[in-house]
Amino acid sequence: MTKKKRILSGMRPTGPLHLGNLHGALANWIKIQNEYDCFFFIADWHALTSDYENTGSIGKNIDNMMIDWLSAGLSPDLCTMFVQSQVKEHSELFLLLSMITPVPWLERNPTYKDQIVQMGNKDLSTFGFLGYPVLQTADIILYKGDSVPVGVDQVPHIEIAREIVRRFNYLFDDVFPEPEAVLTESPKILGIDRRKMSKSYNNAIYLSDTPDEVMSKISKMITDPQRGRKSDPGNPDICNVFEFHKLYSSSDTAEQLNKECRTAGIGCVECKKIMGKSLLNFLEPIHDKRKDYESRPDFIADIVAAGCSKAREIAQKTMEEVRAAVKI
Ligand code: TRP
Ligand code: SF4
Repeated sequence: MTKKKRILSGMRPTGPLHLGNLHGALANWIKIQNEYDCFFFIADWHALTSDYENTGSIGKNIDNMMIDWLSAGLSPDLCTMFVQSQVKEHSELFLLLSMITPVPWLERNPTYKDQIVQMGNKDLSTFGFLGYPVLQTADIILYKGDSVPVGVDQVPHIEIAREIVRRFNYLFDDVFPEPEAVLTESPKILGIDRRKMSKSYNNAIYLSDTPDEVMSKISKMITDPQRGRKSDPGNPDICNVFEFHKLYSSSDTAEQLNKECRTAGIGCVECKKIMGKSLLNFLEPIHDKRKDYESRPDFIADIVAAGCSKAREIAQKTMEEVRAAVKI
């Protein structure tokens, strides 16, 4: 039997997960946990690289993220879930890698340059933020990950990881395989204001929103901007609510509404209510599981502890090889 490929990926615990995260990274993880040897972790140290002034909510965010993962369908029987800061080997490897990583490799990282501009309100001129990809490299190669499913913004980081691996293997010993980035395809989910769904735009529908919150957000969604009143025909092709129908309503319902919208046979208020029902129907099992997990914090803690200890075992073994290679 050939060994299953090892997959490794992480998320920063910066807040609750929304529908965009679900249909992007998380849905992909849930699918591949059946096929590969998957390690998924919460990158809490990475959250500090930009949120170092606000560490108070990280603990709560970690617990919530674990519940989001489990209620969406990640299973501890199929994959290993852990928390980065609970496996201290990440920091030792990060330190060693930082010794061999040329600063210009980090300075020319396009994601780094973008973020400095985008998050202009934060002081990101720190050593830790510049070294973000070095820590990410440690995360991946500590487990000798073969593939790393990521969004397109993370590809430069995996490229840096490959360069660091080549340099390490050249300077010391052939300890690490070069990880490969696998692009996660994600349907573009727009927020209620038609911009990309994002926590920072305040336009997201979260997995942990109550049904009332979901319906209230849907009632505020921007529809076909050219449709002034109910008696005007609308155009579903440019309506975000209709995109949601395509995802969450039956194809018969979507087909029917498509026609009724174009002939002004239905108003947006009604159309949104139908979509809301479909979305809540889709979210119901996730909400039910969340409720169950929230009532059993010990159960969650056990899953995390088991995941961390499995991860730690592998990480310790790798670090023995690393120390031997570096001779320290
Ligand atoms: N940088 C990733 C992100 O923001 C999170 C992350 C940290 C990660 N370490 C990783 C992803 C290792 C993949 C592999 O999305
Ligand atoms: Fe969009 Fe529905 Fe309104 Fe048509 S009726 S514009 S599909 S919300």
